[in-house]
Amino acid sequence: MKFRAIMGALCAAGLMCGVTAAQAAESLEVLHWWTSGGESKAVGVLKDDMTKQGYTWKDFAVAGGAGAAAMTALKTQVISGNAPSAAQIKGPLIQEWADQGVLVPIDSAATDWKANLPPQIDKIMHAGGHYVAAPFSVHRVNWVWYNKAALDKVGAKVPTTWPEFFAVADKLKAAGIQPVAAGGQPWQDLTLWEDVVLSQGADFYKKALVDLDQKTLTSQQMVGVFDTVRKIETYMDNGRTGRDWNLATAMVINGKAGMQFMGDWAKGEFANANKQPGTDYICAAVPGTAKSYTFNVDSFVFFQQKGQKEATPGQLALAKTIMSPAFQEQFSLYKGSIPVRLGVSMDKFDSCGKQSYADEQTAIKSGGYEPSLAHGMAQPDATAGAITDVVTKFMNSTQDSKSAVEALAKAAKTK
Ligand code: BGC
Repeated sequence: MKFRAIMGALCAAGLMCGVTAAQAAESLEVLHWWTSGGESKAVGVLKDDMTKQGYTWKDFAVAGGAGAAAMTALKTQVISGNAPSAAQIKGPLIQEWADQGVLVPIDSAATDWKANLPPQIDKIMHAGGHYVAAPFSVHRVNWVWYNKAALDKVGAKVPTTWPEFFAVADKLKAAGIQPVAAGGQPWQDLTLWEDVVLSQGADFYKKALVDLDQKTLTSQQMVGVFDTVRKIETYMDNGRTGRDWNLATAMVINGKAGMQFMGDWAKGEFANANKQPGTDYICAAVPGTAKSYTFNVDSFVFFQQKGQKEATPGQLALAKTIMSPAFQEQFSLYKGSIPVRLGVSMDKFDSCGKQSYADEQTAIKSGGYEPSLAHGMAQPDATAGAITDVVTKFMNSTQDSKSAVEALAKAAKTK
């Protein structure tokens, strides 16, 4: 068969329509940490899309929730001169990588992005006046996921305050159900802790974790935050050390545990297990945070290939695809998030997705839309890391809340 005929046949089969030989040869190495059931399905949409466009997808998946292991792998690759084509990097870390002079601008793929992104997020995708990152979706972090049958069994309603929460947890415990499923990894500890900070009000959260205001960090209210976290911990099982987040989600899915504090990537696991919100499980804002929204926006940055300062055709196509309406919709349906691109229809989304969208719009307008510290959106890596150490140490010892607060105030000064 002639080249044209081969391409025609591939096109008819839904593969490689109108691609050039140069494109067909380009291989895209993509580093990410999306390895759970729901996550793999979501990133699979991108892989299929790029393959259809004629690119070769070289998957560089590094297991380990929230990316700690992936970041170590990335540094090794870049230092040894083997930077991937794209990598999952988000928040202030985008700027930190851009400062290293190793990224390429992707402006020509982003001509309509400004009009289609919330300004807070559009800004994060920039470095040095150029687009250098492509955003996937918006995850809300301040959720609790409940097993509906477990709540029904003990006759409990979704709690909206901490006293109600502890009452429900006690009922679950009495019924022999593990009240809280958790994985004892630093980022999971921090996710819970920032939820409790947020329950003190979005202003308190902002002053403490965005502005790093020393007065707020050392306040009696912050001592109370650590006390609440200590109390929640007593409802977790001893086996939580090192447990992956999706295994904790599985405990809620199969009814071993009553609930989990986790961002809405957990919904991707429920969806992957064919569970329905409202029937099998319930999503609800962390007690005291119904009006607030901690956001976590995943994005890819693009690395210089073979010393070239310009993006390759494949990198530009990748960026464009990530922000395309059709991809934005399908990715989030699998991932548990909502599209970051404005104006994408929410019709196909379930009640949790619709609630996330409505709450996001309200929070953007009326305040309470805050970057998640635990998910790399609020502070540079060094500061976030120092605060994580304080919280993890507290949760894995018998340290008192007052000395944890002192350590926190010190950690917040880390640059
Ligand atoms: C990422 C999510 C991911 C989660 C667990 C978060 O930091 O933003 O995309 O699903 O970690 O791996």
